[in-house]
Amino acid sequence: MIGLCAISCSESTSPSMDSCSPSMMNLPGGISVIPFSAHQSYSQPVFVLGRALFYEGNLSGDASVSCASCHKQAFGFSDAGNIVSKGVASESGMRNAPTLINSAFQASFFMDGRSATLERQIEDALRSPNEMYATDSIVKKAVINSSRLSQLWKQAFGEQEITLGGVSMAIGVFTRMIVSGSTPHDAFLAGNQSALNQREQRGKLLFDGKAHCVKCHGGPHLSDGLFHSTGLHTHYYDKGRYYVTKSDADIGTFKTPTLRNIALTHPYMHDGSLPTLRSVIEHYNAGGKQFINKSSDIIPLNLTKEEMDDLEAYLHAFTDSSLIRNACLSKP
Ligand code: HEC
Ligand code: HEC
Repeated sequence: MIGLCAISCSESTSPSMDSCSPSMMNLPGGISVIPFSAHQSYSQPVFVLGRALFYEGNLSGDASVSCASCHKQAFGFSDAGNIVSKGVASESGMRNAPTLINSAFQASFFMDGRSATLERQIEDALRSPNEMYATDSIVKKAVINSSRLSQLWKQAFGEQEITLGGVSMAIGVFTRMIVSGSTPHDAFLAGNQSALNQREQRGKLLFDGKAHCVKCHGGPHLSDGLFHSTGLHTHYYDKGRYYVTKSDADIGTFKTPTLRNIALTHPYMHDGSLPTLRSVIEHYNAGGKQFINKSSDIIPLNLTKEEMDDLEAYLHAFTDSSLIRNACLSKP
């Protein structure tokens, strides 16, 4: 399916864009449909417009930054290599850009969960001074000044006025199509015993057992969608979920990220403070640092070096190599 798409989806307006429809995307086992916004269901022209806008630098205040500047397909739609991402005028935010994979299935957005819908989150990213610093008039100008975008807008929305809200809806449809469900891990769960080698299978047993990663990183998206502190620091400069709830018990807690494509999205944690997967495993193996709100599930694991190697190998089995090459999701 993906192979077909890789050949036929390269031209944004060709009728073969049909092979980029939601039913052609690979979903994780047990999930049969991609949820779309109640305000904007899937339509082919809106998807094509959203894809163009996702890659469009002129939507930002100084025409320098697009969504793809910080959410790069080759790195699982994260900003690999950058500890915190640079937005307009090289303004840095304080967090490491997370992957966008399987966002459609999330109950809340941002690492502190401050946004309840994906489209709301996207509107925030567009307006934020640390990210794109856009306004209604900037996005309107960007669309009107480009004959290609004007045409795509007409095909998607007819005579409807060009607004930042409409742009967010279209980018939302594109973002919801970034789904991953075909990894060696998924193939193994589906019954293909040879999809994981011996080392990866031992890693899976540790993930589900002795290292109990599955307690928070379980289910089809490898995340419980809840907020925990992993004892990353003894003092949290970024207070995380506390900003939303104002409850002391939430200081230093963050939404559990998905582990899909985790091998591609270094550095790790909300502040990018752990450079490699190995350093993340060592952090958990030590049981994190002393911190008042640390989850009771973060305890010393006593993994041997051999076991840490196995666990690390299994984390690589979450890489979806078809997704990062899927032309439906590439720059048009
Ligand atoms: C300057 C870099 C930058 C740009 C540009 C940017 N983002 Fe982000 N994005 C981030 C960072 C950093 C976070 C995490 C912020 C947080 O949790 O507070 C994030 C979070 C997100 C999330 C939430 C993911 C989750 O798991 O909760 C989504 C969805 C998202 N961005 C989509 C977009 C879209 C769509 C665009 C374009 C309109 C965009 N971003 C532009 C850096 C960026
Ligand atoms: C108590 C719940 C919990 C457990 C158990 C847990 N994690 Fe996490 N994990 C989280 C949370 C929450 C974060 C985000 C923390 C932050 O950003 O400060 C995270 C972050 C990560 C990250 C970085 C993700 C990214 O995108 O930066 C990796 C990798 C990871 N965990 C792997 C593991 C492994 C491997 C195990 C088992 C050894 C494990 N986790 C056990 C909750 C948990």
